[in-house]
Amino acid sequence: MSVDLRTKYLGLELKNPLVVAACPLTQSIDNLKRLEEHGAAAAVLPSLFEEQITHEEVEFSRAQDFGTESFAESLTYFPEPAEYRATPDIYLDTIRDAKKAVSMPIIGSLNGVSRGGWTEYARRIEEAGADALELNIYLIAADMNLSGAQIEEKYLELVAAVKQSLSIPLAVKVGPYFSSPGHMATRIAEAGADGLVLFNRFLQPDIDLDELRISPKLKLSNPYELLLPLRWVAILHGRVGASLALTSGIHSETGLIKALLAGADAGMVASVLYQEGLEKVAAILAGLAEWMREKEYLSVEQLKGSMSQENCPDPAAFERGNYMKALTTFAGEPI
Ligand SMILES: Cc1cc2nc3c(=O)[nH]c(=O)nc-3n(C[C@H](O)[C@H](O)[C@H](O)COP(=O)(O)O)c2cc1C
Repeated sequence: MSVDLRTKYLGLELKNPLVVAACPLTQSIDNLKRLEEHGAAAAVLPSLFEEQITHEEVEFSRAQDFGTESFAESLTYFPEPAEYRATPDIYLDTIRDAKKAVSMPIIGSLNGVSRGGWTEYARRIEEAGADALELNIYLIAADMNLSGAQIEEKYLELVAAVKQSLSIPLAVKVGPYFSSPGHMATRIAEAGADGLVLFNRFLQPDIDLDELRISPKLKLSNPYELLLPLRWVAILHGRVGASLALTSGIHSETGLIKALLAGADAGMVASVLYQEGLEKVAAILAGLAEWMREKEYLSVEQLKGSMSQENCPDPAAFERGNYMKALTTFAGEPI
């Protein structure tokens, strides 16, 4: 029995629901070709950061003001260019090269928080040929004077500003830390997002005890991290006017199947490709098709959302429902 893996995400027709998440792997054209050969349906390029764009602009002004040193002090706030993965121009070249090299959709990614001139790059990413843009809003709400409502307004203004300069679809990648994630998701969709990517994993700074300095730690995910986005995808499915992609914790076909059952239009992978290689894409897709055949699902469309909160037999399970039972019946023993 053949199964139909096609799905629609951001209005794009994808041959299957497995998308490579934004990460440095997709910066290499060679990797993109290999990922496509292994069956990846689309790839998100690593983010171009607001700081990279503004840094480039400061450098440009400095070159023009050479000798005045007027920007010298401000430049010390920025990391050395070598620490960045790509300057804006290289980034746009990567999109052009990727579009020539592979036929799967290429999704550009912008990462920022403020509504500045850098949002103009959304248009340039589109002009370079990207099929869609993912806007990663990475805002750590450390300003105690800002209320949750003010921060949410910042998100919405940014989404609206980026959407305004685009005609390709816009996905918005956010973290889970809102008082009311569902309400916020609805508002982001209303502000112009065609899709939501749930959830951003925030880099947590650590303290290096030898050097006594703060070091940001990027840890690859583990499969347990799937459960947080899984809950919210299940709650949002059918209730928000945007496509849904699940990112965080998909390490095998089981993660992807659960994401689809909860209601995701696509599942994204990054960590597992670092841990198990690019060929993991093919293994996950084969596993998905095999499982669908066993369970007699004919298409991804058919299974999508069948265990969402709207459709599952125990909707309360996605809320507080089984919380008390899970705690009180836990049978672990101390070692
Ligand atoms: C090395 C690495 C670099 C990443 N860089 C970006 C990035 O530039 N922009 C972005 O939106 N997400 C970035 N991510 C996050 C991934 O896109 C993804 O959302 C996250 O890793 C969760 O998926 P996973 O559990 O499959 O790793 C990065 C992840 C990794 C592992």
